[in-house]
Amino acid sequence: MFVLAHLSDPHLGPIPDARLSEVLGKRFFGLMNWVGARRRNFGAETLAPLMADLAAQAPDHIAVTGDLVNLSLPTEFDTGAAFLASLGSPDRVTVIPGNHDAYVRSALKYHLERWAPFLAGDNSKPDTPLDVASFPFVRRRGPIALVGVSTAVPTAVFLASGEVGHAQLERLKALLSELKAEGLFRVVMIHHPPVGRRHFHRDLRDAAEFRAVLREVGAELVLHGHDHRASLGWIEGPDGRIPVVGVPSASAGPEDRRGPGRYNLYRISGAPGAWICQMESRGYAAGEADISPRERGVLSEAAGLVPA
Ligand SMILES: [Fe+2]
Ligand SMILES: [Fe+2]
Repeated sequence: MFVLAHLSDPHLGPIPDARLSEVLGKRFFGLMNWVGARRRNFGAETLAPLMADLAAQAPDHIAVTGDLVNLSLPTEFDTGAAFLASLGSPDRVTVIPGNHDAYVRSALKYHLERWAPFLAGDNSKPDTPLDVASFPFVRRRGPIALVGVSTAVPTAVFLASGEVGHAQLERLKALLSELKAEGLFRVVMIHHPPVGRRHFHRDLRDAAEFRAVLREVGAELVLHGHDHRASLGWIEGPDGRIPVVGVPSASAGPEDRRGPGRYNLYRISGAPGAWICQMESRGYAAGEADISPRERGVLSEAAGLVPA
């Protein structure tokens, strides 16, 4: 059995002191947002106990689906790198960027440079810098293949949307076909939810095109963040429905209106054509400050999450 943990959107604080010139424009509005969010019980006090609980579960691998930082100020990426290192060594922790990790155009390179050990594919060469063409990357671990997709594109003020892009979708299609032939349990990591409806300003612009790729070549599990809510959706795949699971922000407190902080554990067993994927959601519940298992079941394409 392989145990995979999934967390997302820690939005690590505090925001470092910045030069005034750095917080003009889009970053100014992000800063105001962050100050407001802190007031709603959001931060390190809730993240640290949750991560201690995660460590105690000793997963084989940890998947982090983006929004580690807030304004994409350069020093925030060092905080992000330290957080990733606190979870485990780069071969056991995989990250993809979210929209806050590519908040402004000038910051696009930081996550690629400073988080490289955690988002470099198995085939990447240590001396070759990562760029947008490095996505999707693949990391094979035991029976599973982690496929990291980037939706991080710089957007205008008030926009939190994302895009996979045609070139990356083409590479994704080829890669997922190849991994299927290898008989691996394919886990696609993507920050923006590829299912469900939301306002255009925070949507995945080419969600329909992404779903079309999965309809054609399939995957076994899709993990996302961005909504800061627990969610379970489905994409019709060639061999049955593919579960698409969203997790609340790992830094959200028990009073957070979008959902208390959680992470999910997946216990994956079985074999190609007969995979068994058990899911356990652990964390806070509304008004409850203790960390406990909150939901547990087997992901069944016929019946959703079946309590187990
Ligand atoms: Fe987020
Ligand atoms: Fe996001």
